[in-house]
Amino acid sequence: MSNNIAIDGPAGAGKSTIAKKLAKELGYIYVDTGAMYRAMAYYFLQNGIAADDEAAIAAATDKVDISIAYQNGEQCVLLNGENVNPVIRKEEVGKMASATSKYPVVRTKLVALQQQLAAKENVIMDGRDIGTVVLPNADVKIYLTASSAVRAKRRFDELTEKGQECDLAVIEKDIIDRDYQDMHRETSPLKQAEDAVLLDSSDLDIDGVVNKMKEIIKEAGC
Ligand code: DC
Repeated sequence: MSNNIAIDGPAGAGKSTIAKKLAKELGYIYVDTGAMYRAMAYYFLQNGIAADDEAAIAAATDKVDISIAYQNGEQCVLLNGENVNPVIRKEEVGKMASATSKYPVVRTKLVALQQQLAAKENVIMDGRDIGTVVLPNADVKIYLTASSAVRAKRRFDELTEKGQECDLAVIEKDIIDRDYQDMHRETSPLKQAEDAVLLDSSDLDIDGVVNKMKEIIKEAGC
């Protein structure tokens, strides 16, 4: 039996940065489920499919093949065989992923893939519904959050560092809108699993969060 660690939480809470570090330290495989929803969203955008056209989304979902490969320990999402990692990080793709991940047809397909991965390997998987739906029997469940102001500031610093001009207030509004959309959809909304440990990273740096998580994981015997 493989060990599974589930990390859920809102956009920008630091899930992927932390999960990647932990996976390296513990020798687990990191599975970024948001990247899978982003790959689907990228396909919809590329093919001119609107987020509210459920019939077209369903038809396209049926045709699209999503799989995962690992290159030098990095997860690559393959969309019909092509590595789409370089193009799925844009804000536009994230917004489309949030808007289209509400459809059961999209979720069913990706949840099956996620469950197959977790059955075979020791994984740290992050997303929105990992502890509640994808891996309800995970050995450890953590709900990682931070205030919207802190998450917006982190994003602002990241973009500024890359030389991109941005507006802190706009970033925070986008974050609040995305939280609302992810938390209020009918299918698998973002929420803390009853048996998840809540971790607020607002006042912690990356190492602080990693250390807290290691304590939680150790206590669970993983
Ligand atoms: O974590 P992220 O920002 O890359 O995720 C993009 C969107 O995908 C997010 O706004 C909601 C959706 N998502 C989801 O519905 N379920 C998951 N397990 C992961 C992501």
